Amino acid sequence: MSELPRLPARSVFGSLALIAVIIVACAAAFAYTAGWFSPERITPIALVDAFKPPSGMPLGHRRNHAKGICFTGVFESNGNGSALSQAQVFASGQYPALGRFNLGTPEPNAADATVRVRGVGLQISAPDGQVWRMAMIDPPFFPVSTPQAFYDLLLASGGKDPNAMKTFAIEHPEIAAFGEWTKTAPWTASYAEERFNSLNAFIFADKSGAEHAVRWSLVPAAQPVPVSPDDLAKRGPDFLEQEIAERVRGGPQHWTMVVTVANPGDPTADPSKAWPEDRHTVDVGTLVVQQIEAERDGPCRDINFDPTILPPGIRTSDDPFPAARSAAYMKSYDLRTAEAKDYPRTAPGTNP
Ligand code: HEM
Repeated sequence: MSELPRLPARSVFGSLALIAVIIVACAAAFAYTAGWFSPERITPIALVDAFKPPSGMPLGHRRNHAKGICFTGVFESNGNGSALSQAQVFASGQYPALGRFNLGTPEPNAADATVRVRGVGLQISAPDGQVWRMAMIDPPFFPVSTPQAFYDLLLASGGKDPNAMKTFAIEHPEIAAFGEWTKTAPWTASYAEERFNSLNAFIFADKSGAEHAVRWSLVPAAQPVPVSPDDLAKRGPDFLEQEIAERVRGGPQHWTMVVTVANPGDPTADPSKAWPEDRHTVDVGTLVVQQIEAERDGPCRDINFDPTILPPGIRTSDDPFPAARSAAYMKSYDLRTAEAKDYPRTAPGTNP
């Protein structure tokens, strides 16, 4: 039998060293991705955990904006948006809309009159199969400038240190404007009277390829009627969903979608800074809410209103929030859908 050729010792050593280098590189990449080298870096799970309310994790529910109600309807595009974006939803026509009115709280059973921020999740579908998802709130600006600051805010407001919020406000003076809004903005008794704002800036690209930095709002057709929180508290813990269901039974509800175009130099990376009032705006169409459906077994339940799900013609800007939000919403979605048994589609005690 012929002898096997012998590898020189140097070549064996070289191969082993190469294997070791590959293993160490893989381990380092894993540790980096997991955030082990930078424990101060926020991860999606840390962000989502930071919402944990005193009553415990709302299993089966969204980790924030946990209380809400579904709706369906249409977006009636008037064609004006086509000058700004080639997205199909801006061509004149009607597009199916699906959404969710909600409250900015991680408590699915919060009493409506106790929650200051109201929101809406919305999906508009186009015939080319593309969808545009967004999640908007009623304040005119966000409390803080960066995702890291938002995480720090959640920790400061949810922790036990009585001075944490004072320290936070000194380090993040931009929060003062939001504090003022919470104290002075009128409350209303209806989702139908709320103006919902994207706050984050996005980039629209028109047919010529020209780009426009924009934010947008849904402006209600219904006239807002101010009601004091004390009066709202007397209406019961779930008055908002009861009111919107009744209102929509009486007829569809409308919001105009108004796109605001930034001037050069307007801050696009900081949603705590509102743009000046005189910016160019374009009314691009009307959201028509035609039907209200329970969240528990409704069409919005398993939708993730991730603001980075955008059709061609709309893209994210240098605003760091949409990417951070996308990662957190995905985590929240994964958790809540895996916990479906904790929030059954049929309410306990009712016949399926
Ligand atoms: C880093 C900042 C933010 C974090 C970590 C965060 C986190 C979350 C999470 C975990 C959810 C639940 C998602 C799900 O399970 O589907 C959620 C929902 C929501 N968020 Fe945020 N959010 C952030 C910023 C914002 C901003 C800037 C806005 C508005 C401009 C906003 C508006 C909403 C709305 C309206 C919903 C409810 C959407 C629905 O009905 O499914 N959030 N957020």
